[in-house]
Amino acid sequence: MPIQYLADQRVFRLDTPHTSYLIALADAEGFVGHLYYGPRLPEGEDLRALLRLDEKPEPPSRLERERAGFYDAFPFEYPAFGGGNFRTCCARVRSAAGGCGCTLFYEDHAIRPGKPALPGLPACFGSEQECETLELYCTDPALGLRVTLRYTVFTDVDAVCRSVRFENRSAQLLTLEAALSAGIELDDFDGDLITLHGSWAREREIDRRPLAAGRQSVYSARGISSHQHTPFLALAEHSATQTQGACLGMTLVYSGNFLAEAELDAFDRARAVIGIHPEGFGWRLAPGESFDTPEAILAFSESGLGGMTRAFHDVLRRHLIRGQAKHRYSLVNSWEASYFAFDHDSLLQLGREAAAEGIELLVVDDGWFGRRDDDNSSLGDWVVNEEKLPGGLARLGRELNEMGVRLGIWLEPEMVSPDSELYRAHPDYAMAIPGRAPTLARNQLLLDLARPEVRDCVWRQIEAVLRSAPIDYVKWDMNRPITDLYSAALPPERQGEAAHRYMLGVYELQERLVSAFPHILLENCCSGGGRFDAGMLYYSPQIWASDNAEAIDRLAIQEGTALVFPLSSMGAHVAACPSHTNGRVTPFATRGQVALPGGFGYELDLAKLPGEDRALIRGQLGDYRRYGPLLHEGDYYRLASAAQNHAYDAYMVVAKDKSRALVNLVQVRSRSQRRAARLALPGLCEEARYKNEATGEVRTGRGWRCGGLLLPVLEQDFTGQLIPLVRVG
Ligand code: GLA
Repeated sequence: MPIQYLADQRVFRLDTPHTSYLIALADAEGFVGHLYYGPRLPEGEDLRALLRLDEKPEPPSRLERERAGFYDAFPFEYPAFGGGNFRTCCARVRSAAGGCGCTLFYEDHAIRPGKPALPGLPACFGSEQECETLELYCTDPALGLRVTLRYTVFTDVDAVCRSVRFENRSAQLLTLEAALSAGIELDDFDGDLITLHGSWAREREIDRRPLAAGRQSVYSARGISSHQHTPFLALAEHSATQTQGACLGMTLVYSGNFLAEAELDAFDRARAVIGIHPEGFGWRLAPGESFDTPEAILAFSESGLGGMTRAFHDVLRRHLIRGQAKHRYSLVNSWEASYFAFDHDSLLQLGREAAAEGIELLVVDDGWFGRRDDDNSSLGDWVVNEEKLPGGLARLGRELNEMGVRLGIWLEPEMVSPDSELYRAHPDYAMAIPGRAPTLARNQLLLDLARPEVRDCVWRQIEAVLRSAPIDYVKWDMNRPITDLYSAALPPERQGEAAHRYMLGVYELQERLVSAFPHILLENCCSGGGRFDAGMLYYSPQIWASDNAEAIDRLAIQEGTALVFPLSSMGAHVAACPSHTNGRVTPFATRGQVALPGGFGYELDLAKLPGEDRALIRGQLGDYRRYGPLLHEGDYYRLASAAQNHAYDAYMVVAKDKSRALVNLVQVRSRSQRRAARLALPGLCEEARYKNEATGEVRTGRGWRCGGLLLPVLEQDFTGQLIPLVRVG
């Protein structure tokens, strides 16, 4: 039983295969305290003393005069602002009278098999055999507020899912000014904070620095999870490496504004929280109403960052990404091949080239609809441009299918161009603050998807398009932040709900798409990787990782992405050369090797490729067929980071049954007068023997781990090698 209530200790114990998570009810009042999250404990272990209730300031039942000090000191499982709880908090609730205070006391609980869905929100799932859920019912009697803390643990992965429900059981209006998804508290913390940051074309660089006194956060207030920061943070021992050391990560199953914050206090306690960003947020709870937060996923490992990473990959692949098992077509995308300059014949020609190489699908990117010849018009008019595509997508799809190539299309359903039929008919559908001209970005405006009639209007159009032709793939793009947050559907006092309601609207539309067209492979995109998060992965098994498909820059982008998200979730393409993003010239083979682990494709005009590059495509597609399943489903081990060593990038993926593995090595810079680097290969079966198929060398898994692999000495910059290992004997 993964979840137990130990009544004698008043402790809830949640076990995953290698971790335990303990919550304690403290003293007569029933404060809910965070007791422990770490390596799995033996049965019967009593850790209650760690709550430090006998230290000063003692609980109010014993020392009422220092109640404020207690609130400041107690490791609340779900800290709510008020009463003396000054550190970073998960909740802030304002009463009808305007006061702001909240203290939660335990009332009751339930432990159930399985995991209930979160209404309207993406969330992990699991059967009654796979997981158990604890609901801790807490109350603030003065507010008439019930807060349910929900925890799910799985029998097969080291992750804990948390979410919170607020219910107004009073007769007064309550306003949630902050409603984060999870908080965690670590005693005597002396370690690092790890986050992911970046910008367009440079997403998810890994940032690691000592957690200093005070609050440190990453966040988004852009209405999308953003290129700048990812809804994720980890706290790790200073000495934690890829293979050892304690490491605790939190990520959010959400794609809009978020806050991930860690605070180190005067007593070296670290509190970390994650959830919807309180800035600009305000949710009115009328009597009888409830609010569900998005879900947070926590992963702890003693096996360093790598252990945390593999826990995230497993929980996301098995319990969140509904389309994980979908076939990931090899594809060619028209964007960097021809941008807006295509027509039926040129696309068919691209399809012919694709068919000749065995590429499975052609994506018609931006430009097939309305009068869209550049990025200044037509978003919102999802009607095929028959001048460019006579016979429409139906004819194109049919003719491609006859060649053995499937059809995919690009859509940007959340947008409207001021120069569009939709905007001329319904200017009010665009999000704008009354009295202010809305800020343009890429000359486009956001549709107010918080409004059901706007969603219906968009859906009618895209449904008709998707029914009109044999479409097997959709790239759902989103190319601007929310700058003029205001929903005409909401009264003035409810505008603090607009950003979250927008997000719920996006989720509802994507849900309609995946349910109405289950055969379609959906890929999300947001000017590249501006909305790369677990929320989107619930709908689309892959996300275009970055508009920067240049191989060497991509190494860092994919390394950072893979810290949390599985390789299978990254759209990765072989792009044109010199790179359209940074002008770099890289060998075609290396570009293929870098794109190999993701949803693989080409982003270039196949007809313009030099013959020697073109000749490599069949081999690359063969590698994708041969290694794709291993890379998409196996255990990922980061071996070396070019961001740190300035010379080479290497990772390895080991099959779950440990029958084979693949090392993917890319040299960024060749170095004079250097001998072969030696890399330990972890993760293999220690006793079994493995053959390095590149050299023929055979060693035990232990031999590869302890002895290490001598990396081949590559003579040039931007070269690489795949090194397969297979179990023998
Ligand atoms: C965004 C995407 C690109 C491409 C263009 C089309 O920038 O990230 O891949 O689809 O839009 O306008």
